[in-house]
Amino acid sequence: MARRTLPPERPSDRIEPSGRTVSAAMYRRITLGVLVTQVVIVLTGAAVRLTGSGLGCSDWPRCEQDRFVPSGDLNPIIEFVNRLVSFPVLVAVLLAVWGARHRVPVRRDLGIVAELILAGVVVQVLLGAVVVRLELLPSTVILHFLISMALLFGSVVLHHRAGADLHAPSSGPAGWVPARSRPLVIPLVALATAVVVTGTVVTGAGPHGGDEHAARLDVFLPTAARVHSLTVWTFLAVLVVVLLALRSERAPAPLLRTGTIVLAVSLAQGAVGYLQYWNGVPAGLVFAHIIGAMAVWGTTVWFWLEHRSAAGIAAAAAPPTTGTPSPTSDATSPTAHEGAPT
Ligand code: HEM
Repeated sequence: MARRTLPPERPSDRIEPSGRTVSAAMYRRITLGVLVTQVVIVLTGAAVRLTGSGLGCSDWPRCEQDRFVPSGDLNPIIEFVNRLVSFPVLVAVLLAVWGARHRVPVRRDLGIVAELILAGVVVQVLLGAVVVRLELLPSTVILHFLISMALLFGSVVLHHRAGADLHAPSSGPAGWVPARSRPLVIPLVALATAVVVTGTVVTGAGPHGGDEHAARLDVFLPTAARVHSLTVWTFLAVLVVVLLALRSERAPAPLLRTGTIVLAVSLAQGAVGYLQYWNGVPAGLVFAHIIGAMAVWGTTVWFWLEHRSAAGIAAAAAPPTTGTPSPTSDATSPTAHEGAPT
């Protein structure tokens, strides 16, 4: 069984948490809170767009110039609820920043990721105001959505890394040499990014702008949808090749399972994509497609992190064959001590 090696302690890691301390298990729960609140705010944002409530409040941060909270109409309430969800999002990420400083053992990497997420959340709050002021200009709505996807990426990374010193691998991937799969994993994440970006262009050209008077992107919708589905097919093809490579390399079973989950989620999402396109993008299916987009993106990022961890553990466990250590066998590399596939 492969044993996990923790990196040698660096002076910077020897900071004693001051005052109240947070256990590693509690910190992991906090990072789950960050992840969940990021997902929820994307869902409430989608509800705003799909119910045409994007200009339900005409001002920011007040709903209207003369009132902070909305009138009793549905659209302003939906828009206002989306704004209110910013508070749990902020609380969760502030807790993660604070918790990283009080966690035992202290992990500077977690603090850095949490602070980056906090910066992104502040940018999103301000960008939300710009989106309203520019009356849902599609480019600003697209940027708002893409920053949310970046925050989802950060939240998945934070949650994954927070588990690194919690779980030991149940079965080690000793002997696994990811020579075929490793060069394909970053292109896979890049393709997932392309799928998300092209998807936002389809949305920008489509009928759900968040308000009936919102401007739309000057792009022919079927062309945008074709480019989007082409990136999806390319992503799926590379994913299948990665899975075949993992099989032929005898990769650890949990990693193969995670990859298979990405494939299953992506196939389901592709089916929803075609269904909504052929049926004139009904709001319910578009909402399901946004849930699916987060699932594909989140699981792909998780798979990449798992691959990095497992490759790092395998390299650390492998007997040295040459005098030159491989990049992933560097014990100070985060990959060398990250958690096993869960
Ligand atoms: C892995 C599979 C897929 C992923 C991850 C994905 C992701 C996305 C994303 C992120 C958006 C933008 C959501 C937004 O801006 O709110 C989108 C929109 C869209 N996608 Fe996909 N998609 C996938 C497959 C497909 C397929 C196969 C089709 C078929 C043509 C499709 C059709 C559409 C359409 C029509 C929209 C615009 C919906 C709207 O009006 O808001 N998608 N997709």
